[in-house]
Amino acid sequence: MNILWDTDPGATERYRFALGVDTQALDSAAMVARAIHDNPQVEQIVIGSDIPIDRACELSEATRLDRPEIGVILLRSRVDVTTLSQALRAGIREVVASDDHTALAEALRRSRELTSRLIGHASGGSAREGRLITVFSAKGGVGKTTLSTNAATHLAHSGLRTLLVDLDLSFGDVAISLQLVPAQSIYDAVSMSGHLDDEALRGLVVTHEESGLDVLCAPNDPGDADRIPVPTVSEVLKVARRSYDYVIVDTPPSFTEHVLASIDVSDALVLIATLDIPAVKNLRVAIDTLDMIGSPKDSRIIVLNRADAKVGLRPEDVEAAIKTPIAVNIPNSLTVPASVNRGVPIVLDEPKSPVSLSMKELVDSHIRTGRDDEVGSAAAAVGQTSSRKSLFRGRK
Ligand SMILES: Nc1ncnc2c1ncn2[C@@H]1O[C@H](COP(=O)(O)OP(=O)(O)OP(=O)(O)O)[C@@H](O)[C@H]1O
Ligand SMILES: [Mg+2]
Repeated sequence: MNILWDTDPGATERYRFALGVDTQALDSAAMVARAIHDNPQVEQIVIGSDIPIDRACELSEATRLDRPEIGVILLRSRVDVTTLSQALRAGIREVVASDDHTALAEALRRSRELTSRLIGHASGGSAREGRLITVFSAKGGVGKTTLSTNAATHLAHSGLRTLLVDLDLSFGDVAISLQLVPAQSIYDAVSMSGHLDDEALRGLVVTHEESGLDVLCAPNDPGDADRIPVPTVSEVLKVARRSYDYVIVDTPPSFTEHVLASIDVSDALVLIATLDIPAVKNLRVAIDTLDMIGSPKDSRIIVLNRADAKVGLRPEDVEAAIKTPIAVNIPNSLTVPASVNRGVPIVLDEPKSPVSLSMKELVDSHIRTGRDDEVGSAAAAVGQTSSRKSLFRGRK
């Protein structure tokens, strides 16, 4: 989580997009020092432009000794050489102009990466984190759930420890698509907030027997969605990354605060469009919003679902409209709803069908990385022994 140290009560709202929702605003050095001491979740401190530079440097020097993994970022209304060199000497990671929210978001991302590397080294370097992928589209019904369940099933079936999280908290249908009957849901993580660990998370998931995929389902009661605080979702995803090789997150069709929290910690973002003007327009708006909040462009994977539908719009028209290349085209096929109705993911039901082959291409060429062997052993290093043999070795 982030701490924003600023005396201006409006600062949280002003920097909300850059900082994300997992942020606590504090207005005194003493309160910041106490939070650093008491809360192991604190990873970044952003110091507002009203805080005098000497006070900011004092805090950074103290933090460098007590919690060296924490990143300190300084906001200034004017960035000059004197400020930069003073900040550098005190161990402040970045100095950013207070009106440049994109630069702040990017500085936070760089700092977070450094923090996770430092945490990795501190724990002996063995607890390498898995990859987290959020599947999103601002328009409903384009295939998010189809794609996330099949991608996650394919990863799990390849021998990788995979968790699928249904973040469509009100209307999630991952459980029904996979014919799972969950005893617990993500709602049960709320009572464990602040002390969720690998074992507690394992108690909340249900396993899809055919593939070995673990699933953290959405609540049964749509009303529970509003009772799940955003920091709980962030904590669940953080613990999940430590426990699994891959975490795939299915989402509702809008930028809810829960979705933003997931995007915030994602290594890659799968964005889906279909060949209709509203879907393309919504994808364009989603891309603009992601640019605004500083989400890295190179982590986006654009997928065109039902790409061969003869509806007057071509894949090239979509690429021109969104000014981004399409990574994978998935054909339209009646076998998709048929497999959903049977409750068997199409990658298992008809693995050789063109739809399955394109979904596997998405996973194997764009989601998986060359370090699968390493992440597989990392999961084992944190006490997770896979019950299945690894089928993926040498078979990418
Ligand atoms: N390639 C495809 N060919 C044919 N039908 C498809 C294809 N992809 C998805 N569908 C069908 O489209 C419908 C919507 O898909 P899905 O539920 O995955 O979308 P979604 O984006 O998750 O929707 P929501 O926003 O409501 O959660 C489903 O009935 C699914 O079977
Ligand atoms: Mg869905």
